[in-house]
Order: sequence, then structure tokens, then C-alpha cells
Amino acid sequence: MNHFQYKNDVLFCEEVPVADIAATVGTPFYLYSTATLTRHFLAFDGAFTLPHITCFATKACSNIALLNLFSRLGGGADIVSGGELFRALKAGIDPRKIVYSGVGKSEDEMRFALESNILMLNVESHQELETLQQVAAALGVTAPVSFRVNPDVDPKTHAYISTGLAKNKFGIPIQDALDSYLAAREMKNIEIIGVSCHIGSQLTDVSPFVESLQKVKLFVERLRQAGISISFVDLGGGVGIRYSDEEPPLPAAYAAALEREMNGLDCTLILEPGRVIVGNAGILVTKVLYTKQGGKKFVIVDAGMNDLARPSLYDAHHAIRPVIRGNDEELADVVGPICESGDFLSRGKKVPVCRRGDLLAVMSAGAYGFSMSSNYNSRPRVPEVLVDGESFHVIRQRETYEGLIAGERIP
Ligand code: LLP
Repeated sequence: MNHFQYKNDVLFCEEVPVADIAATVGTPFYLYSTATLTRHFLAFDGAFTLPHITCFATKACSNIALLNLFSRLGGGADIVSGGELFRALKAGIDPRKIVYSGVGKSEDEMRFALESNILMLNVESHQELETLQQVAAALGVTAPVSFRVNPDVDPKTHAYISTGLAKNKFGIPIQDALDSYLAAREMKNIEIIGVSCHIGSQLTDVSPFVESLQKVKLFVERLRQAGISISFVDLGGGVGIRYSDEEPPLPAAYAAALEREMNGLDCTLILEPGRVIVGNAGILVTKVLYTKQGGKKFVIVDAGMNDLARPSLYDAHHAIRPVIRGNDEELADVVGPICESGDFLSRGKKVPVCRRGDLLAVMSAGAYGFSMSSNYNSRPRVPEVLVDGESFHVIRQRETYEGLIAGERIP
């Protein structure tokens, strides 16, 4: 359930007509609904009864206004870079609820994380462990660590967003991970506190999560037999959403399946949901510039692959809806102004019949939308707007041409 609904054929975000926002901020822009974000966060977080921390995956949508909202709802953050750590702290997220994932943390990033006193770093290789030991020793602190294990479980999702298969770059093969823990135990500035795992994104079935948790659970028992105490199990993110006709598990079913396995393990569960919280809480609003009939019908809009990369990158489907609803639909490609044939928002699907100046809503764009946008073709990045009831706030301004070249120098 989200708060982007029609009232008399006019698309509203909560109590605000989307067209009114377009008239004020111009197009294109990303639009998020506070009520939807809140509802999704609480539905997810509230589905768990065991001790847990919901660490929102910052990469999915990293605007500090959203991070601040999740922080006020009791959430933490899953980060994968120093930049995300900076954002999370600026947004007021409690560092004791921040977990740091990723295969390539630099020494500077490790230092920043340790100085910020975050909850834990998920280490993904032996060299990373050794580097972290050195950085922690130089600072005179102890680094709280979990290893990200790779359970070799097929998440049955798009190849680019599968992460828990043996062939993926992520984690340490679970069968080799005991050695990493034994090595870490000997390091003076490393404190082992957890085990972590993330197998992929946009999963529509709970069974791969359960399969990997079963492997993690056996592994935690092995660690304990070896005298290594584990207080946190981090299961990553990955719950899918409905873009068209997918049937992802509801938070309650997902939580119940995980808690069945976790029972008796006596660990705090860490969850890193991204898409399931923000995906259907955001849309991209764009304006039709031109229509033309070439080899097929094209609707040319003012948002492109630099604004929303998912269709071009993963052939992802995002429904295209009219901001003011007429009746007819037709087969057309909705394409952007970027000079690449791969620049499309929708291809080979029925879309609303459009005229110049019409507004379109690209649905389910809250996750990995703005956060993956770029300046390609020197296009300023679009504003982000947050609706709350009857009011809306520009939470990120449209970039300017001056902003585009800020930092560039002619020698
Ligand atoms: N934790 C870790 C360690 C991750 O790598 C990810 C996502 C998440 C949590 C959050 O996963 P989620 O709950 O959002 O599925 N750009 C792609 C998705 C990449 C996901 C990468 N990792 C897309 O647009 O589909």
C-alpha cells in the first residue's frame, strides 16, 4: 500500500496533487511520501519480535531527510562508504546502529568508521582484516568486527544483484570463514562480535533467506564450539517489491521465517532493508517533450537514464502512469534525451497516450533511483521532494549549471 493514488483521475501524493508540485519545482523530480516511508519502515521493523536493529540500506536512497526520518522511527543505517557514513551521521543516526558493509573499504574510511564509534564493520577478506587491525592499532582503539560470509545460495534474482553465490565477489566462502575468525581472535585490536551475510536484492521468495540463515546458524554454533562468542547476526537486505506482478513475501512472513530459524540462537538480529522500505514510496515525475513515429512510436520525456538508470542497466520494469488520467493507452517506448539508444524508461509496453507537455509518473522509483543518478550528458541532477500530508518540501535542490562545473579548473 502506498500513498500515490488517483482522486478523480488526478494523481496525488498523500494530499498533494503531483501536478501542483511540478508547477512549483519544474520537471523532472523525484517525489517521496512520508506516510508511505513511515508505513513501510514500521511494517518491516514491527514484524520482528526478537531483539533486532533495522539498519536502512543507505545506498537505496541516501537523502539525509529520509535517513533522519528512519532515525526518528528507531532505525539505524547500513553503509558502504565514507560518504554514506557522513550522511548517516549528519542525519542524526545513532552510530551504535550503523553497520559498515562492502568489499573495498579504504584505510581512510576505516579510520572514519572507528573514530565515529559505529556498531560494527563487516569484513570481507583477510587483507581487509589485516588492514583494519593496523588502522585500529594506530588509533589505539578496538575494531568491532563481523565477517561477511558467502553461503553460496542462489537468490534467484537478476545476475547483477546476486551477491551470495560462490562466483560473486562478496564475502568469505563460509567453509573457509572459521580460519578468518581464528586469525582475528589473535589480533589485538580486533573484537569479534558477529557474523554477516547478504545474498542479493529483489528476492521474491523467502526460501533463499532461510537457506542462508540455516548455514549461518550452523556456522555460529561452530564458532561457539571454538570458543568464539557471537552476539550479532546480520542478515543483510534483499526483500523484493512489486514493480508489476511480482509477489514478494510480506514483512510478517519474512520475519516469521527468519525468527523460526533464529530462535534459541541468543543473538541480536541486524537487518539491512533498502528497496522494501523506499522502492514504492517514491516516483520520478517527468514531462513529455515530444512524440514521434519512427520505426515505432516514441514518447520523448525530459528524464533520462542518467536520472533513472534501472531500466537501461537491468532492463527493469517501472510502470508509467499519467499524472492526469485520460483513457487510452498505446504501445510506445518512453525515452529520454540522452544520446544513447539504451536510454529508455519503458520499452515495448503499453503506456498512456501522450501529448507534448503531459506529465508522467515513473512508478516504484524510490529505491536506487536518485541514488544511482549521474550527470551524464552534463545534465544537472534533479530535485528530490518529500510530501508530508498536505505540504511538500524540497529536500534536495535541482543542480545548477554552475554546480555542474564546480570543482573543475582549466590549468
Ligand atoms: N545490504 C547489503 C550488504 C547490500 O549489498 C544491499 C544491496 C542491501 C543491504 C540492500 O538490499 P535491498 O534491501 O535494497 O535489496 N542497484 C540495484 C540494487 C543493488 C543492491 C545492492 N546491494 C537495483 O537497482 O536493483
